Amino acid sequence: MKFSFSLIFSLAVFATARKCGTPEPSQEHLEASQTFAQGAADVENNRQATEAAPITISVWFHVLRAGTLVSQGNIPDSQITAQLDVMNNDYTSTRFKFTLAGITRTTNPSWFYEYDTGSMRAALRRGDYKTLNLYSQNLTNDNFGYCNFPNKPTASVIQDDGCAIHYDTTPGGSIENYNLGRTATHETGHWLGLYHTFEGGCTGGDYISDTPAIKTPTKGCPAGKNTCTGPSYPGDDPIHNFMDWSYDACMTEFTPGQATRMVQMWKKYRA
Ligand SMILES: *[C@@H]1O[C@H](CO)[C@@H](O)[C@H](O)[C@H]1NC(C)=O
Ligand SMILES: [Zn+2]
Repeated sequence: MKFSFSLIFSLAVFATARKCGTPEPSQEHLEASQTFAQGAADVENNRQATEAAPITISVWFHVLRAGTLVSQGNIPDSQITAQLDVMNNDYTSTRFKFTLAGITRTTNPSWFYEYDTGSMRAALRRGDYKTLNLYSQNLTNDNFGYCNFPNKPTASVIQDDGCAIHYDTTPGGSIENYNLGRTATHETGHWLGLYHTFEGGCTGGDYISDTPAIKTPTKGCPAGKNTCTGPSYPGDDPIHNFMDWSYDACMTEFTPGQATRMVQMWKKYRA
């Protein structure tokens, strides 16, 4: 009985599809995106001509854990360096690179589970607004991660800034189909100012001109998925985009427009 109960329980957990808890962008943020969208072509030309130098982001990786076993969230250093390697690989078509500034490890069952973690971040966050703080936790509500969009950097905005990821989404973690480290790639995209590709549905979009329109988050890797049809919406859904919700193995690209937008957002808010 016990065996079959835990088998059913594990299947239920592993059958979970990607969900991201990043909140909706603020009106002010949407307006910034719209403004950038109107001048995108010029900025892209300018970027390629004069600004090709890499932007290197320091990353603090905070391991929250219930105890010192790997099964209690205490993922090894090797899994963290593998996570940074995945991010560097996934961002090669952009100007961003990531270097590990340090790792902290904190045994605190409450911080390990908590979703809204002001006190945890007040204690652990390192660096300035250009520093990416990743918190690995046992996120509830089926969320694999969530992030703060860039914002006007007040003291409290900086204090709360960062990205939470479920520790089992890091490379070699145990969430089947979502354990190649793409959750951190996706969440960092939000941290750099990108929305979900399906953010505003067919008509609203994500304010980036070269991501085809998509209405609904993608599950798995369904070739030919096309939720926005007709002459106004050319192209199938961008199911391979890092800012969709597909399987990790299905996510392979940022578009040039997304690469540009991240630089625009970086300059406006974080640089
Ligand atoms: C993480 O949370 C889930 C559900 O809330 C629970 O079943 C699981 O045992 C937790 N993992 C650890 C390592 O505590
Ligand atoms: Zn997301």
